[in-house]
Amino acid sequence: MTQVHVSQHPLILHKLTLLRDKDTDFRSFRELMRELAMLLCYEATLDLKLTAKPVETPMGMAAGYKAEEHIGLVPVLRAGLGMVEGVLQLLPSVQVWHIGLYRDEETLRPVQYYNRLPASHNIQICLVLDPMLATGGSAVATLDILKKAGVPHIKYMGVIGAPEGVEKLTKAHPDVPIHLAAIDERLNDVGFIVPGLGDAGDRQYGT
Ligand code: PRP
Repeated sequence: MTQVHVSQHPLILHKLTLLRDKDTDFRSFRELMRELAMLLCYEATLDLKLTAKPVETPMGMAAGYKAEEHIGLVPVLRAGLGMVEGVLQLLPSVQVWHIGLYRDEETLRPVQYYNRLPASHNIQICLVLDPMLATGGSAVATLDILKKAGVPHIKYMGVIGAPEGVEKLTKAHPDVPIHLAAIDERLNDVGFIVPGLGDAGDRQYGT
């Protein structure tokens, strides 16, 4: 069954409020997105598997651990790019696989225009990065691609979800945990999350 995690971390709630603010400029928006991604990554990786790795300190031996799972980050272009740097600060040695999707403005269906998955891989967990889970179409399409590529475990990391998107994603991929900073009220008639934060891609890149 899907686990939907909506963070209650005070720093996440504080930074999300600044991110939503219509007066936040794109330089600050990018910085906040980076910081939120790092905090959300901390929460999304709480159950990573460890192996024992005793360590010798200057004073003797101590118990130690190593996180050995092979992790891949999958930012969904464009808006997901803004989450990559924050996650890489915590997971500096992971692979990054880019997937480009945009929503058709009429149908709201995702259209794939880029896919840079490796031909073969030994990745055990993919963290999908996309700040906005609106209708859920882009997220479902991304997870379909990753499962077809044989990724055994996937987690979805977003910032704001609409109830409609959360429902669609949990129905299509009940095995994938969802990590968000907030679930908002609803989608409007053009598929934007209300109250949300506007267009995450435009606000990050000043377009
Ligand atoms: C936004 C967002 C998601 C998608 C969510 O991207 O970053 O990828 O919409 O919508 P959905 O849940 O209804 O599929 P957008 O298509 O605006 O492209 P952009 O990131 O390039 O601006």
